[in-house]
This record gives sequence, structure tokens and C-alpha cells, in this order.
Amino acid sequence: MTSLTATVPPGELSHALAVRRRFEAHWPTIQSRLAGVYGQDLRWTDFITRLRQSVLAAAAARPVVLQALDAEREARPEWLSASGQTTYTFYVDRFAGDLNGVRQRLDYLTDLGVRWLHPLPLLEPREGDSDGGFAVKDYRQVDPRLGTMQDLSALADDLRSRGMGLILDVVCNHTAREHAWAVAARAGDPAYRDFYIVVSPEEAARRDAELIDVFPDTAPGSFTPCPEMGGHVWTTFYPFQWDLNYANPAVFAQMLDVLVYLAAQGVQGFRLDSAPFLWKQDGTTCRNLPQTYAIVEAWRAALSIIAPGVVLVAEAIESLEDVLPFFGEGSGGCDLAYNNGVMTALWGALADQDAGIFRRCLSASAGKPARAAWLNYVRCHDDVIWNALSTYAPHEDLARWSRFYGGQDPSFSRGRAFQTAAGGVPSTNGMAASLAGIVPGEDGASAGAARLALLYGIIHGLDGWPLIYMGDEIGLADDTQYADDPLRAGDGRWLHRPMMDWSLAGRRGDQASLEGGLFQRFRTLAEKARMLDEHGVAGPARPLDLGVTPVLAFERTGGARGFLSLANLSGAAVSVDLPFGFGVGAMDLLGGTPPSGGALTLPAYGLAWLVTP
Ligand code: GLC
Repeated sequence: MTSLTATVPPGELSHALAVRRRFEAHWPTIQSRLAGVYGQDLRWTDFITRLRQSVLAAAAARPVVLQALDAEREARPEWLSASGQTTYTFYVDRFAGDLNGVRQRLDYLTDLGVRWLHPLPLLEPREGDSDGGFAVKDYRQVDPRLGTMQDLSALADDLRSRGMGLILDVVCNHTAREHAWAVAARAGDPAYRDFYIVVSPEEAARRDAELIDVFPDTAPGSFTPCPEMGGHVWTTFYPFQWDLNYANPAVFAQMLDVLVYLAAQGVQGFRLDSAPFLWKQDGTTCRNLPQTYAIVEAWRAALSIIAPGVVLVAEAIESLEDVLPFFGEGSGGCDLAYNNGVMTALWGALADQDAGIFRRCLSASAGKPARAAWLNYVRCHDDVIWNALSTYAPHEDLARWSRFYGGQDPSFSRGRAFQTAAGGVPSTNGMAASLAGIVPGEDGASAGAARLALLYGIIHGLDGWPLIYMGDEIGLADDTQYADDPLRAGDGRWLHRPMMDWSLAGRRGDQASLEGGLFQRFRTLAEKARMLDEHGVAGPARPLDLGVTPVLAFERTGGARGFLSLANLSGAAVSVDLPFGFGVGAMDLLGGTPPSGGALTLPAYGLAWLVTP
């Protein structure tokens, strides 16, 4: 018998051995999770046999240049929790025109301290309205207006060579009605008809009564009549976004192929868009069902065999107890999830100058498994959904925050109300600058700028990855012109999707300007957050009630030194007695006056990061 080493070059041999080890470690998870979902399906045996073959083939074909990254991350799983993984999210066209434009802007981003780029959907969308790219026509092509797949790989390579990474949006819950699968389905191909869900008008009406509308004003109901499909097609979002039928195992396998294909282009992470909606079941709201979590976990396990360096991010804008299961059981589901609860709570706390809601949400979010990380954020391209806090705050609080930020009550906010499902309170649109009350033309010393910087300061001290929404680093204002564009006028979220203003960004060196004041502050935050590991700061953030209503406090005590973040949510200075260990000899990593006599005075909207000696 020829020995294996004599015929296979050493690099390939070690890759083959690594694949075998990974397969042994993760295949049982795939098999058990998917057996729970598809085990009773007549197609099960054939499906799982083919899946096994395709996972092994994909793992063997993993590009050599990416194997090193995989091995490195696998050897050090704690890399995910390393401090300072600042992430930047943006629409490619609005930030830099196209993908090559993004490549030209990398110095700007590294200057800001950014480590990960998270462009919003950039794969080929349907023509016309595509819900900001969330209606994908081809998962294997880049939107031709933004570039080509080669440009995407080149960006991924550039980032890798800078020690940075690229996270791509994968719209896994639905395709555009123009996607080849949907076209084949409409043409009558039974295999592809089974990629979508078609019900009778009566069933659609019955199901609609159980479901919660996402866009009740602009896209009421979750079904769209389609005579070619012989009934009503399931469309949770807009009528042109057709939900995939995950009860069909072929859909699971096809979407895995998409992830593998994009990972081979050098993409290091995927945002699983609308993850809560994957599984549908009669008699439920069809959100956050156990089968959905199982599917996500199986994708994770498959990637752990094929491309272990790649991370999965859950986009689940739901109540925290429904988000936590996306992190999975055992070896895990998603590596990261949007910390929607804490984000929304931050705005609520700022409105009330009362940290109570933040403490309740932070306690719940600390229930995350240690191996996973939160993606902490202040704003994103969607509305702020107050209803997602309903477990943690009474309806009257949600309604008050909604009115405060939506312009119905007098407040500093310049945001606008958005649609809401029956029984809920309106969500809020607007850039962080507007919600924080920055008036265009103000300088870096304004109260609005202080509020915006404060919220970003808070998220940089939490455990997890801080996410910056494009333009917040210079206090970019709303795009009120969106209403003049017929393709965007119908969706108020375009208010907070402006074009990046590079002439304003040009002022980032001028500390006195709004842009410079904020940019420098953001840059310092990224730098200080990166150093938290070195300072011995680790572990989950846990809220503290220090008895002063506007003081938002949390500590992290899992490392060599204790860490205490203190934020003053009010426009007046406050004094706070410090907990044991921080009163004497502690240092403020943000350069503030060290505490003395066991107390600290925080200026209006002040932030301190204390570490024990
Ligand atoms: C996600 C996106 C949102 C989009 C929806 C449908 O929630 O963040 O912008 O409208 O999915 O794809």
C-alpha cells in the first residue's frame, strides 16, 4: 500500500487532515440538527447523503490562501472576543460609488480604527425597487452598478492584507421574484415551485391573522396573489420578495452553496438577513421557531468544516430572549448577533435620562454564551423598533420613546415616525445625528454631538464588536430629499440612508468642527477599545445601579483588572459614589480626572472608563 505522505504534497496533506478532524467534530451536529427538521421527509436519506458529499468536496476545495486564516482562527477561538473589533456598515454606492471606490477609501476607514467592513447587500438585485438591495436576483453576481465578483475578491484581498475582514449580507429568507428559481417556479417547474410557498386565498387570510406585519402600511399582509403560481405566494416583506420554503431541504442546501461560494471569494463573514423568519408553522407568528435555530446551527457546523474562519451574524431584530437562541447550543450557531435590545434601550434611556431600561436589557443580553459576541450598535439602515422592547418595558414607555424620537412630543430629537404593526407603537427613522438632536450647522461642542458621542462611547466599552453606521463618525444629517425619488419615496427608512459627504468628512482634522470633533472622538474610542485587552479588561458587561438616575453604569470583571464604564445621560454634571475597588487609585482610560475620595463627578453627557489599579 502506498503511504499517503508519499503521494500528497505536505500542505494538501495537512489540509486533508484538518478537514477530516473538522468533519468528525461538526458533522454530528449537522446530522442531528437537520434530522430534527427534515428527518421525517421522504427525501431525507438522499438529501443527507448528498450534503455529506458536497460538504466534503467544498472543504477540500477551500482556496489555499484562506486556509491559513481558517487554521489561525480555529487554533485561537477566543479571537472572536478580542477587544476593538470596530466594524463599519454602509451602502457601497452611497459611501464610495462602487467597490473599487471602497478600496480607495480604506485609509479613511483604518484612520478611524475600523477592523471590519460590513457593506449592506451588494449582490445583483432586481431592477427598480429592491428594498435597498434586499431583493436578490443572483447570489453569484455583484450588482453591476457596484462592480464585479473580481472587484469583490480584490476588496477582500486588500482587507485581508491589512488584517481586516469583509462581512457580506446574505438575504437568506427570500429572493427577488426575478431570481432564476422564482422564474422557473412561475414557468411551472415543480422542483422550483417547491422553493416557495403558495397557499389559497383563504389560507392566506387565515395565516395573515396570526402573523405580525413588517410593513403594514406599504406592504400589508404576508401574501401576494400570483396567478402563475396558482395562489398566494408567501411574501413577509415586499410583494417582490418571495420567502423561500425551508421545509424543502434543497433550499437549505442551495443557500449553503451560496455561502460557500461567497466565502471562497474571501468573504470572512455573513449577515444572515431576516434570520427569524426562515421556518413557517401553522398556528404561530412564524418567527424564531426551533427549526429556524436548527437550520442556522447546521449552516454554522457546515462552515466549521468548510471555512471555519468565517463568522455568521444573526440579524434578528426581536426581543432578546428570541435573539439569544441564535447563538446556538453546544458548539454554536451564529458567532455574532445584533444587540438590538441594548441599542433600543440606549435611546430610551437617553430620552428619559434614566438608565433603568438599559440595565434590564443589558442583564438579559449577558445571558449569551461566552464563545459568541454581540454586535453592539447605535444606528443602522433600518428604523428603531420600540416594540422589540415590549418584554422589558411597559407599553406606555415604548409609546413615550416613540413620540419623543418621532417628533410628536417636544424633545431634542429630529427623527420621524415610521409604520408599525397593529397594537404596536411607531418605529423611528432618522440618522443618529437627528435622533441625538444635532442641528445642521452646529459645531463639535453642541449638546447633540455630545449625546451622539456618548452613545457610541457606551457601546465601545461593552463586550462585543462596536458597529459604526456610515456617516455617524462625522454626524452626517438625514437625506430629506429621498421623498423626491419615486423609487425611494414610499419607504421612510431612506431618510437615514444619505450619501456620504466627503467634503464634510474633509473637516475631520478640525477638532472644533462637528465633523472633526466627532471623528476624533470616534477614533479615540476605537483606539482605547482596542487596548482593553492589554489593560486586562474582559468578560461580559453587567449593569450596576449606583443610585443616580441618569448614570448608566456597567462593569466587567472577567479579567485581571476591573472595568467600570460610567455615562451621564443628562445635560447637567452629576456626582456618583463609586463601588468598592474603583474609589481609590483607579485610572480613567479616556483621560478624565481620576476619582478621589470614593466619588466621581461626570460632566454633562460625560463618559469615564475606570480600571482598577
Ligand atoms: C432586514 C433588513 C431590512 C429589509 C428586510 C427584508 O430586516 O435589515 O432592511 O427590509 O430585512 O429583507
